[in-house]
Amino acid sequence: MTTEAIPDSALDQLFRTARSFNGWLDQDVSDADIHRIYELLKMGPTAANMQPSRFVWCRSPEAKARLAAHASQGNQSKILTAPVCVVIGMDQDFHEELPWLFPHTDAKSWYAGDAEGRTRHALRNSSLQGAYLMLAARAIGLDCGPMSGFDEEGVTQEFFADQAKVKANFICSIGYGDKDSIFARSPRPEFDTFNTIL
Ligand SMILES: Cc1cc2nc3c(=O)[nH]c(=O)nc-3n(C[C@H](O)[C@H](O)[C@H](O)COP(=O)(O)O)c2cc1C
Repeated sequence: MTTEAIPDSALDQLFRTARSFNGWLDQDVSDADIHRIYELLKMGPTAANMQPSRFVWCRSPEAKARLAAHASQGNQSKILTAPVCVVIGMDQDFHEELPWLFPHTDAKSWYAGDAEGRTRHALRNSSLQGAYLMLAARAIGLDCGPMSGFDEEGVTQEFFADQAKVKANFICSIGYGDKDSIFARSPRPEFDTFNTIL
């Protein structure tokens, strides 16, 4: 296992020059790309290895249209023109999977009687997995356009109707970003603004 810092060029690609895209070049994202993103993101840490995210990769025109129908006006084209737009759902009954995902202890019992706590844990850890997804996509040379401007209940019903405890968290278009579609970079706070070292 390496503990060396990754090259500056990789840090640029993941963070410093990476942007959130609103438009896309006409270049496909393959099944292999989607699998590559998942194989990386699943290695990111989640509490008790709960892996609460349930991903629906909308790549066909039909699937993108179903998703866009629940999006805000401004987000619809960002879904329809993207090579793929992924729904990051979260399973609030993630504890059912813990016997195999966290097999060395009875972690299912930690969450079984706590539906309210499971909602928080699912949101926290699925949001983390969504972040891992974006970094994984950037790491393999793709761009992202995350969005929360959509009807959560509508997307939940559209894609997770058969899974009672799965809810939509956020969505993210993935592809090769059109540089003409980005806004000027918004300010990022200096360290002292939002940090304290005690
Ligand atoms: C969870 C999340 C939700 C977002 N929702 C929307 C959205 O609904 N529509 C949109 O155009 N951009 C959306 N954005 C994009 C943000 O505005 C963008 O990531 C942020 O301004 C930083 O832009 P930059 O990465 O280009 O610096 C969202 C981003 C995140 C992470």
